[in-house]
Amino acid sequence: MILVTGGAGFIGANFVLDWLAQSDETVINLDKLTYAGNLENLATLTGVAQHIFVQGDIGDSALVAALLAKHQPRAVINFAAESHVDRSIHGPEDFIQTNVVGTFRFLEAVRAYWNGLAAEAKAGFRLLHVSTDEVYGSLAKEDAAFSETHQYEPNSPYSASKAASDHLVRAWHHTYGLPVLTTNCSNNYGPFHFPEKLIPLMIVNALAGKPLPVYGDGQQIRDWLYVKDHCSAIRRVLEAGVLGETYNVGGWNEKPNLDIVHTVCRLLDELQPRADGKPYQEQITYVTDRPGHDRRYAIDASKIERELGWKPAETFETGIRKTVQWYLQHQDWVSHVQSGAYRDWVEKNYDGRAA
Ligand code: NAD
Ligand code: TYD
Repeated sequence: MILVTGGAGFIGANFVLDWLAQSDETVINLDKLTYAGNLENLATLTGVAQHIFVQGDIGDSALVAALLAKHQPRAVINFAAESHVDRSIHGPEDFIQTNVVGTFRFLEAVRAYWNGLAAEAKAGFRLLHVSTDEVYGSLAKEDAAFSETHQYEPNSPYSASKAASDHLVRAWHHTYGLPVLTTNCSNNYGPFHFPEKLIPLMIVNALAGKPLPVYGDGQQIRDWLYVKDHCSAIRRVLEAGVLGETYNVGGWNEKPNLDIVHTVCRLLDELQPRADGKPYQEQITYVTDRPGHDRRYAIDASKIERELGWKPAETFETGIRKTVQWYLQHQDWVSHVQSGAYRDWVEKNYDGRAA
């Protein structure tokens, strides 16, 4: 069996669902259920014996040690993290606690477990750490895309905390021989994406008749990958990645934020036109920029393509259409995650921004 952390969040839940759709190997899913963790994402697994959910913190050394000892997983995949840049600006403490201290404690618990394994299990064991392209910092327009050897230059509390976790994972390999793999992926989108992030926020605000808040000039560039392609990359790295190596994962889909918002608006115009017949893009509002906003991310995914034969299955056009359709078909899911805590966040992040 495998142990997944953060498997009730956006990418982790997609990963667990895809894993169990393709394999009968049991998944132990350890998740703290912060505001971003949602068991509704895993509702289709109710009664599935191969999914064992445990609510808990990756930084709870005793709990992690007990889970490892009891279930004896052959691999561990670490998705658990605080993941939203804007939240890290308003309150970095949780990011340091989970992404840095939590990862450290988790590594120590996994190391103790791995050290105690018999030779064959020890040789086959893997810890895969899921990270982000944001650790590399910001690119100028003419710069080459991030390769695995690009210097780490994190600019936000979020990316700094993820960079710190990557460094710990690397050091635990070099110093203790822990069999690790790291993936650094670009921006994901798709089902179960929490509507604090750009694409789901634009979809749900558009449908609710609310403003579509574009930060600054909207010309910041991100490289977008459909979440299920990220999950297939992780499975491939787990299966065939070289120990101690890092793999950049991306969709070759660099787009300015404003283009993304226009695409979402156009799809909604087609799939669920406004009652007044006007285009959704009339709801676009330019608001004060995010402090320290990275201008451009771009992933050079040639290493994982060349060495492991991975390629994304979706283009941006097919993936974004599926995503918009998913949100239209899951408006109950959206209304359930828009709890009191969600409303407090929206007020905190957007009320201070002048239009
Ligand atoms: P998310 O915020 O949607 O989910 C994070 C999950 O981790 C939640 O279920 C939460 O409850 C859980 N969690 C948080 N703190 C925890 C703790 N201390 N112990 C156990 N569980 C905890 O995030 P996501 O977008 O699914 O991202 C998953 C991972 O992928 C993160 O490590 C993130 O840095 C990385 N990543 C995300 C993207 C992206 O575009 N979303 C891109 C590249 C990499
Ligand atoms: P986000 O989804 O928060 O991901 P990240 O900051 O990790 O890349 O934001 C994606 C881009 O969209 C980023 O450049 C910030 C921008 N953005 C907006 O313009 N408006 C918004 O309301 C949000 C949430 C993001």
